[in-house]
Amino acid sequence: MQQARKWLRDAASVVVLTGAGISAESGVPTFRGPGGLWRNYRPEDLATPEAFARDPELVWQWYDWRRALIRRAQPNEGHRALAELERRKEKFLLVTQNVDGLHERAGSRRVVKLHGDIWRVRCTACGAADRDERAPLPQLPPRCRCGGLLRPDVVWFGEPLPDSAWRQAEAAARSAELMLVVGTSALVYPAAELAPLARGAGARLIEVNLEETPLSALSDCSLRGKAAELLPRLLE
Ligand code: OAD
Repeated sequence: MQQARKWLRDAASVVVLTGAGISAESGVPTFRGPGGLWRNYRPEDLATPEAFARDPELVWQWYDWRRALIRRAQPNEGHRALAELERRKEKFLLVTQNVDGLHERAGSRRVVKLHGDIWRVRCTACGAADRDERAPLPQLPPRCRCGGLLRPDVVWFGEPLPDSAWRQAEAAARSAELMLVVGTSALVYPAAELAPLARGAGARLIEVNLEETPLSALSDCSLRGKAAELLPRLLE
């Protein structure tokens, strides 16, 4: 912890990559592991373009349920510590795989969302995208003003990441002095490529996770425990 704290304090440029684990203490379920969403639901039924084409109402029911759950959640000390880290660093980027918006609610501003935003909807007919923070939604599946079917503006399995988000994340990873990876199983690509990329370009790697991951062996330091407890300590 002491060594990691010093590395973080001394780094002139920092990139943070977060996954579902950072929101676990806010009561938002992760995807894998105990209590994970993919233990009870099959991604191919709910989080693919094919699933949506087959049964948009079912997919929306699942998203509507998650939106209501996230609406009740509050950012935790881990989210807040990352917002504080951003205030301390001139060169900083927070790259998240999360769609819950809790980083922004905690005060983070320089955020890149690799997997979209659960509070945005996008029309499958005319392409118009908009924010819609109602939870539950009054009608499922929701419709666009043009009559087209709206979908959650998130990235599903088999879909490419938003181009500019990926480019920003990649550029930041290549130039960062230090990358902090928090609460991700590092199993989903291309997000999982960012840490090896940063490492290959000379960055130090600090991991914060309850468990060992494929990134642990690559990391200069792996801190085991809850993000909401470890991140505030890392900033002390
Ligand atoms: P996962 O559910 O795969 O992994 C969560 C990670 O967080 C695991 O490594 C846990 O050990 C760790 N963890 C859990 N609670 C923690 C805590 N309190 N503090 C620290 N670590 C904790 O979630 P992601 O890696 O984010 O994609 O999953 C990546 C992507 O897979 C998601 O964005 C989503 C999913 O399918 C799409 O929907 C496209």
